[in-house]
Amino acid sequence: WRIIPLFAVLTFMLTGCGLENLTALDPKGPVAEKQLSVIYLSLIVMIAVFAVVAIIYVYVLVRFRKRPGQTGVPKQVEGNHKLEIIWTVIPFLLLIVIAIPTVKYTFELDKDYSKDPNALQVKVTGHQFWWEFEYMNEKVTTAQDLVIPTGRTIAFHLESADVIHSFWVPALGGKKDTNPGMTNMHYLKADKPGTYYGKCAELCGQSHALMDFKVKAVSPEEFDRWVGGMKTPTVVAASAQTQEGEKIFKDKCLACHAIYNTQSKQVEGGKVGPSLLNYADRSTVAGILFNRDPGDLKNNLQTWLNDPQKVKPGNLMPNPKNVPGSKMEQSLDLNDQQINALVEYLAGQKH
Ligand code: CUA
Repeated sequence: WRIIPLFAVLTFMLTGCGLENLTALDPKGPVAEKQLSVIYLSLIVMIAVFAVVAIIYVYVLVRFRKRPGQTGVPKQVEGNHKLEIIWTVIPFLLLIVIAIPTVKYTFELDKDYSKDPNALQVKVTGHQFWWEFEYMNEKVTTAQDLVIPTGRTIAFHLESADVIHSFWVPALGGKKDTNPGMTNMHYLKADKPGTYYGKCAELCGQSHALMDFKVKAVSPEEFDRWVGGMKTPTVVAASAQTQEGEKIFKDKCLACHAIYNTQSKQVEGGKVGPSLLNYADRSTVAGILFNRDPGDLKNNLQTWLNDPQKVKPGNLMPNPKNVPGSKMEQSLDLNDQQINALVEYLAGQKH
């Protein structure tokens, strides 16, 4: 009985540490459903084989045990054509039963929707340690939170900016590598609105385990509204502090991060780091600090900007502040007041 807590912990781990929608066992779309049906089929076959073998094993142990008064070596038996044929044919049949749906779905799930006008074309680029999402026809780029319409096939063009990563959304299906220098196609579809958690599933460096993203499936109408908002972003409440923040951003951050420019009314900036367009609408800071309550966004931004290496070791962002002993030597030399202004400015980035 003492090992029951261990099983509880193991179950917990298998279901994805309790994070909702991070499990392949509760599919939320047709791809994940097909994959789960193959998982269940193999599982049932394996359990059946195990049960039959265990029953025969126990039967033989009991039936042919040494009885009182028995001496010497029992009668030796060698070779039985009938039995050998049976135990060759049964596994062969079982493998065929597993192989038919496996091969069928392997081809079906490998379908290329890159030329399908009804599919939403999204280019996914894996970076150490964040995800870039480019809606190819809509000309919208975002990061970390992938917004998709329900009921529509999403054709992913998977690429990498540095090393090999792997794109995986357990509840919707997966997974496929993103390789530098080539494009892998992968498609998914979400049946119902919801937030589905995604993970990088290929060891890619120090913060591989923190390379998370979210897939927000919304109704097609809401998706169109979101795209509209990404094309006409507005910055709320231009206070003295947000104006100072904008100045600091242009000076120190714009070389790597794209954002909406209130003067030119255009998205401007570098592509080295994640785009921060409508940043305050995202569910997390840096993909892992959740903005669950009002106020979380500013607190999380403070945590991040005060020491990015502490949150995501090995990331490429220069330290905004001077952090003594930090592995990232490059520093933007901002003071606390400037960080606060940046936080106010970024927290206002929403449509
Ligand atoms: Cu990217 Cu692991």
